[in-house]
Amino acid sequence: MANETIDVLLSEEQIAARVKELGRAITEDFKGREVFAVPVLKGSFMFAADLVRHIDLPTQVDFLGLRSYVGTKSSGVVQITNDLSASVEGKDVVIIEDIVDTGLTMKYLLENLRTRRPRSVKLASLLHKPARAKVPVEIDYLGFTIEDVFVIGYGLDFDGRYRNLPYVGVLRPNGS
Ligand code: IMP
Repeated sequence: MANETIDVLLSEEQIAARVKELGRAITEDFKGREVFAVPVLKGSFMFAADLVRHIDLPTQVDFLGLRSYVGTKSSGVVQITNDLSASVEGKDVVIIEDIVDTGLTMKYLLENLRTRRPRSVKLASLLHKPARAKVPVEIDYLGFTIEDVFVIGYGLDFDGRYRNLPYVGVLRPNGS
């Protein structure tokens, strides 16, 4: 770790301002309804904690654990490691994800959740890397579009580390 440097891509302030806007948009769109928020673990835990605080509506939160990645390469294999504890039938589901990269993970999850007969399913993602898209995924509430770089922080990890950083950064091995 001594040979790595981290460049800040999105500061705490930038993230906070955008997350507040997304929360307001969700509040506006779901007026008079209850939101069933589904943060996808582990990467979205920080984004989700901040986002739901800006949803000014009755809101339930139920976590879903997915694993789709090893190191910095997409394996293309998606596994539910921790399923929802409640039924989403008839609910207005808002999936909360950290990043849509190839889109394979969200394609899988959207299809999976739709079989459970929710009233609606929307997707909120902090980040989107369109350059790497393999399948199209519609993001209803998007924080930021980023270039094709591997990012860490604000929940995102590299081999389990850096999730605790309060900003989103780019890891440069050996200071490159
Ligand atoms: P996808 O299936 O390729 O869209 O990958 C989505 C998942 O890969 C995300 O939920 C992240 O966990 C992980 N991922 C993709 N890109 C990055 C990155 O730049 N940094 C950290 N994790 C990433």
